[in-house]
Amino acid sequence: MKNVAIFASGSGTNAENIARYFSKSETVKVAVVLSNNKNVGVHARVNNLGIPSFVFSREEFVEGTPVLAKLAEYQADLIVLAGFMNKISDALLKAYPGKIINIHPALLPKHGGKGMYGMHVHEAVVAAGDKESGITIHYINENYDEGDIIFQAKCDIVPGDTPETLATKVHALEYEHFPRVIKDVLDNL
Ligand code: GAR
Repeated sequence: MKNVAIFASGSGTNAENIARYFSKSETVKVAVVLSNNKNVGVHARVNNLGIPSFVFSREEFVEGTPVLAKLAEYQADLIVLAGFMNKISDALLKAYPGKIINIHPALLPKHGGKGMYGMHVHEAVVAAGDKESGITIHYINENYDEGDIIFQAKCDIVPGDTPETLATKVHALEYEHFPRVIKDVLDNL
């Protein structure tokens, strides 16, 4: 059995979708969810599926040690960032080389970097007048949104699209592709 640890900061619809996808798997388990915020939807979503969740402060994520201890406790093989808004510590990068992946709600290398998360990304894409957007699943390295790209999928932006309608399209791509790509990454670990 390979264990996945999901890091999430918000509503957690991707975390729930990933957890449901693997809920009957005999080879992959979403073992634990870690968050920097106790007041967000991800906890109820995954706790309802029997998955424990824990909260660490920004400082603890940056320092790394308590987070590493929790990951060791749940024997994490892969860390999946699903709407996680903190920077990943050097300690974590060292402990999980090539084993931390993120989903970004746009087509990197466009519209990435510090401060580009969630609706901010969709607002920037619409403001730029882009004709398409999508998702990028990529490895994490020491710079925001610059790790090697594993997978991208695109959607069209049509006249009348707003950041909100674009977010809905991008979320649909996330739900369709992210769990399958996680499985591929795990198969190649
Ligand atoms: C997702 O769209 C994800 O791509 C994005 O946050 C959203 C989380 O939604 N991540 C980033 O912007 C990272 N830079 P969710 O909490 O409903 O899964």
